[in-house]
Order: sequence, then C-alpha cells, then structure tokens
Amino acid sequence: MTEQRVLCDLEQGVFQVTINNPEKLNALDSAIIGALEEAFRRATDDPEVRAVVLTGAGPKAFVAGADITELQVLDPSRVEPFVQRAHRLMDGIESCGKPVIAAVNGYALGGGLELAMACHLRIASSTALLGLPEVKLALLPGYGGTQRLPRLVGRGKALMMMLTGEPVTAAEALASGLVNRVVEPDELEATVQQLARKLANSAPIALRAILDAVLRGGEMPGPEGLAHERRWFVDICATEDMREGTAAFVEKRKAQFRGR
Ligand code: COA
Repeated sequence: MTEQRVLCDLEQGVFQVTINNPEKLNALDSAIIGALEEAFRRATDDPEVRAVVLTGAGPKAFVAGADITELQVLDPSRVEPFVQRAHRLMDGIESCGKPVIAAVNGYALGGGLELAMACHLRIASSTALLGLPEVKLALLPGYGGTQRLPRLVGRGKALMMMLTGEPVTAAEALASGLVNRVVEPDELEATVQQLARKLANSAPIALRAILDAVLRGGEMPGPEGLAHERRWFVDICATEDMREGTAAFVEKRKAQFRGR
C-alpha cells in the first residue's frame, strides 16, 4: 500500500513525486512520510535524477497538513521521534542536491506548506491557499515552518500568518515571495514540467553547488559563507562540465553536460 501512497516516475531526468491520498487531501500520515523519505533517498542517490517535482494528487490539495487524526492520539512519549522524523524528511529534501520544485495545486496548509517550503522553488495554481493554521489546533508549526517561513517572507508577514492561522491566496503568496510563480490551474503541470526539464538539462554539479552555497552557506556567518562559496568556485572550475560549458559558449554550440 505504502508505495501507492506516493507515486514516483522518472522521465528524461525529471523525477515526479506525487503524494497520493486525495480523499484525505494528501494529509501527511506516517506511511506517507516514510514513502517520501524513500523517494527522496532515491532522488539524492540516483545520478539519473536531475530535477524533482513534488505535488499532490487530485484537484483540491497539494497537502492539507499533518494527519490530524494521528496527532490527536499521539502519545507524548513518542512526540520527539515523531517530529524528528518529519524534520529529517524536510531537511533531506532541502539538501538532496537536486533542484526540487513544489507544484502547489491547491491547499498547502500546515505540514503541507512546510513541505513546499523545504522545496527550492514553488509554482502555485491561482486557486491555491497557503497557510500555517496550527494555532487553531493549539499547536505551533513543527515541521520547520517557524524557521523557513520568516526566511522566505520576513518576520512580520510570517508572524501574521502563524499567529492568526489564516491562509493567504496564491496572489498574496507571490507578492510576499512565498511562491515563485502563479499560473492558471490548467497550466500548472505544463509550466512545472517545462521548468523541471530546463533544470534537468543544466549542469548538475553547478546546480548542486548553487543550492549548497545558498542553503548551507546562508546559515554561516558572512565571511564563512563567502569562503564556502569560494571553495565551491575552486572545485567547480576543475569539472569537465565547466570546461564544456565555457568551450560551448566560445564555439557557439549547445553544451552537453555529463555531471563530471
Ligand atoms: N488531517 C487529516 N485529515 C484531513 C486533513 C488533515 N490535515 N485535512 C483534511 N482531512 C480530511 C477531512 O477530515 C476529510 O475527511 P472525511 O472525508 O473522512 O471527513 C477529507 O480530508 C476532506 O476534507 P474536508 O475537510 O471535508 O474538505 P473541505 O473542502 O471541507 O475543507 C480544508 C478543506 C483544507 C479547509 C479542511 O480539510 C481543513 O481545514 N483541513 C485541516 C487543515 C489543517 O489544519 N492543517 C494543519 C494540520 S497540523
């Protein structure tokens, strides 16, 4: 059953990961978290995977949050490993070394928005609603939301969303930088595929370097972050792909990147 709760498909370097429990608006239960961990382990390890698209099945939701029925009966002695596992998943997505696009096809609430924020890019359908409503359940966002939302939209907007629990529209999310782009619902899939293909054809080591320099380097104090960027620059200048990319420009031809 577990493998069907998360569908995976690799085509031309694009790894499509679809959370598949639309009757429950793709709520993140333990089985789905386990299957996502497995999917992103593959995304990290498989060199054929050059870009990842994460979405939810059905017309209504990306993910409507952590499964509230699991939270309701969660034994206090199990909370620490439970929440650590969710953090491991989010951190694993963020640090998988391949660009991950969230195709936000509807509600992205609570753990659903936290999942989308662990992705590197977010393209939303114009009908999507995005929010962290945990306060309404007398909870706080616990899958990374208190940290990732302020970094994306600033502390003031993040606190407004978290303290009231009210969602924002896709248009508001675009204005605040929470999503990168908003398209009509029937254009979402094609738009995301086009972007994913573009990324899948880019130089993989350069993509990994950019992600790592921004994400890991961004956690370091200024001079260390700059030193981290410099180390990547030195390393990347020794790659075959860098020689190929610069040679292709000079020779006015299309570059062929091999990830070496
Ligand atoms: N956990 C568990 N089940 C959920 C869920 C969640 N986070 N979100 C939705 N579901 C279930 C509903 O219980 C319902 O199940 P049922 O058919 O067995 O009754 C089904 O998904 C459809 O949801 P429903 O509430 O009927 O759809 P709606 O269109 O009326 O409302 C939402 C959509 C998203 C507004 C509403 O489902 C909602 O508020 N969900 C919870 C959001 C939330 O608080 N997330 C953070 C959790 S920490």
